[in-house]
Order: sequence, then C-alpha cells, then structure tokens
Amino acid sequence: MSVNKDISVVFVLGGPGVGKGTQCSKLVKDFKFKHLSAGDLLREEQNKEGSQYSQIIRQHIKDGTIVPQEITIQLLKNAIIRNQEEYQKFLIDGFPRKMDQAVIFEEEVIPAKLTIFFDCSKDIMLERLLERSKTSGREDDNLESIEKRFDTFVKTSVPVIEYLDKSRHIVKKIDCSKTVDEIYADVKEAMKDII
Ligand code: C5P
Ligand code: MG
Repeated sequence: MSVNKDISVVFVLGGPGVGKGTQCSKLVKDFKFKHLSAGDLLREEQNKEGSQYSQIIRQHIKDGTIVPQEITIQLLKNAIIRNQEEYQKFLIDGFPRKMDQAVIFEEEVIPAKLTIFFDCSKDIMLERLLERSKTSGREDDNLESIEKRFDTFVKTSVPVIEYLDKSRHIVKKIDCSKTVDEIYADVKEAMKDII
C-alpha cells in the first residue's frame, strides 16, 4: 500500500524537551490530527517482542544519535497508511532529525506542507527535560544522554531545519520561552491555513 497524496503532513521540530509532544496533544484535542511521534514509534518498536531492530534502536536512543533513516521512515510510513482512512492531517513530531530522513521521506513518502519549529534556549530545554525525567521513565532522560541529544540536535538536526527553511520555505518559528497556552496560541496562528 502507498500513502494517499491528498493527506497533509506537518513536521514538528525543536530540540529535546522543547514541548513538541505537549503542543501536539493540544492540537489533537481541538482538531482532527493524527499525532505520530517518531521517538514514540521507535520506542514501541524497540519494545516489540522479536523485533530485529530492538538492539540498534536501544543503542541509538541511549547515545542520543539518529537511528538509520530506513527504520524510522518505514515505521512512519506504516503508521500513516494505518491511519489515512480516518485522518486527513498528520503531525509528524520529532522528524526529520537528519538530512537523509528529510530528503528520502519527502521523495518517497510525501512532501510536508509546513514545519513548526519550536525555538528554545538550551537552559529552558534542560529545565523542562529534568522536570519530565521525574515521571517519564525514559532511559534517555538523564544528564549524560541529554548532553548527547543536545549535541546531535545542534550538529545534525539544526541543518535540517535550515534546509526546510531556506530551500523548502515551509518553516514557521515559534518562540518557546512562553507559557504552554501562549505557545499554543502562536501554534494555532502559524497553522491557520491547515486547521
Ligand atoms: O523525539 P524523542 O526525544 O522522543 O526521540 C528520542 C530518540 O529517538 C532520539 O534521541 C533518537 O535517538 C531517536 N530518534 C531518531 N530519529 C528521529 C526521532 C528520534 O533517531 N527522527
Ligand atoms: Mg516527544
């Protein structure tokens, strides 16, 4: 099966702990979006009994590095196909994080209509991540993994956002230093042509 070209895809990007998941959940409550988190799909695959990818995913998540694109793109593609009868609009959260993911997804799955980029200082991200770590149960919400994730974000993921902005012209930047509700108001404004 292939992805229906009539659906709309929005990439939701920003550093670790910036609040991508929180804002996506708010959008899902108010509008008919399917929220697909690349990180959640990878964690689900990692924990699946008998998955041939468990080990490789676990290692990358622990190291804060990017899982090979073919694994993540296949998981996303399958999830879109499973949901495209019911949903017309998809939030793809935490993807693309590396140039090959961006180029191959847009070529082989579907081009995105918009990218929401949550811009945030490292201090605020760190504060939010440490707060989340108390309840998230995530193996990578510890200081050592967090530092590695920041490093990957700056070196590997920021260039993708620049590419989506300068070459694809689909980026809307949101200032994340505000409250959750203020940020959400800005998100809705940025997405008004889609929602
Ligand atoms: O987005 P989230 O913080 O849940 O991602 C957790 C981890 O999953 C990342 O640090 C990375 O190891 C992996 N990941 C990836 N490619 C993506 C999204 C997440 O390799 N597009
Ligand atoms: Mg998330």
